[in-house]
Amino acid sequence: MTTRAVGIQAIGIGKSFGHFEALKDISLDIAPGEFLTLLGPSGSGKTTFLMVLAGFQAATAGRLLSDGTDITRSRAEDRSFGMVFQGYALFPHKTVAQNIAFPLQVRGMAREEIARRVDAIIARVGLVGHEKKRPTMLSGGQQQRVALARALVFEPPVLLLDEPFSALDKHLRGRMQEEVARLHGEFGTTFVFVTHDQSEALSLSSRIAIFNHGRLLQVGGPRDIYERPQSRFVAEFLGEINLLPVDEVGHCSLGTSGLFEGARLRAPRHDHVSGRAVLAVRPEHMSVGAEPPANGNGVAARLAGTTYLGAAMRLALATRNGTQLTVTLPSEAAGRVLTGGPDFWVTWSFDNGFLLPEQS
Ligand SMILES: Nc1ncnc2c1ncn2[C@@H]1O[C@H](COP(=O)(O)OP(=O)(O)OP(=O)(O)O)[C@@H](O)[C@H]1O
Ligand SMILES: [Mg+2]
Repeated sequence: MTTRAVGIQAIGIGKSFGHFEALKDISLDIAPGEFLTLLGPSGSGKTTFLMVLAGFQAATAGRLLSDGTDITRSRAEDRSFGMVFQGYALFPHKTVAQNIAFPLQVRGMAREEIARRVDAIIARVGLVGHEKKRPTMLSGGQQQRVALARALVFEPPVLLLDEPFSALDKHLRGRMQEEVARLHGEFGTTFVFVTHDQSEALSLSSRIAIFNHGRLLQVGGPRDIYERPQSRFVAEFLGEINLLPVDEVGHCSLGTSGLFEGARLRAPRHDHVSGRAVLAVRPEHMSVGAEPPANGNGVAARLAGTTYLGAAMRLALATRNGTQLTVTLPSEAAGRVLTGGPDFWVTWSFDNGFLLPEQS
């Protein structure tokens, strides 16, 4: 079973409910076969954007193209995108096989062809032996697989998934993530996926689109978004981050530097900041020790608390003027460090910091 994936182009999409703008000027190119994840706080417009893509909601501004064809006004049935909703939305009185057959019956496919396709996809999603069960007789992960099979059985060019794993426990979630990654690889369908789970977004996606208040703030590869966020919101939303306010920002051939509590801290060159800014550093990029750094950045800070996380330890520290810092260290290394203190040097290499505009 192979599917022809399509690319979707959103151009200035807006969606208003009365005076409320749920989507504001969203422009986004979704490449054929890519795995795009929409990530953002509750109410940021993720589901609304999926609904507009599916054709269940009409955009109030902008245009939508599918492989270059304008589909802004086309009906959901004609777009024929697959959709997996939160909470599965399976038919409770139909069996597994009947649930999966439904989209094919609606399309008027011949009985033998339906049986053939349903059998094939049941095998692909690992539900052999469960064909005659009703949804209530299945585990959460099995129900989720029925929903996936039902959405994939008609070989949609695009599959839209709205928080499909939110009801599953951590273990099952991990297994379903692998399953979805595998299905994406095998079918080659364009996936647009909504999640609240950052690690899910980072591990599954070819690209992540960060939404806030109906706006698309940044779109890029997981590494790009995590390591080079363009705004404080994106930096703080995806993972933990330390933000050190700096002023007297200056540029030189070695990079960009700013003054923090009387010390000059350096980062790679960032031409777009000046005056006041924040220096951002991920907790796993910082170290803690008794000595100031021989090379690299360092700030003096006092240990305020520790949290044991199993493989790692999280250290909470405060600088002289009260800037809170979080450092994560492998537990073994943390054990060694914590024999000293409470006053430490928090250090990191120049390359691991980046500057963000103060207000963004
Ligand atoms: N039919 C509607 N009528 C009025 N307002 C709506 C409607 N649908 C959504 N909204 C509003 O649009 C905003 C975006 O909602 P949406 O469901 O897209 O958010 P979301 O990012 O999916 O959030 P969550 O993570 O909680 O699912 C919310 O403020 C919501 O109240
Ligand atoms: Mg939603």
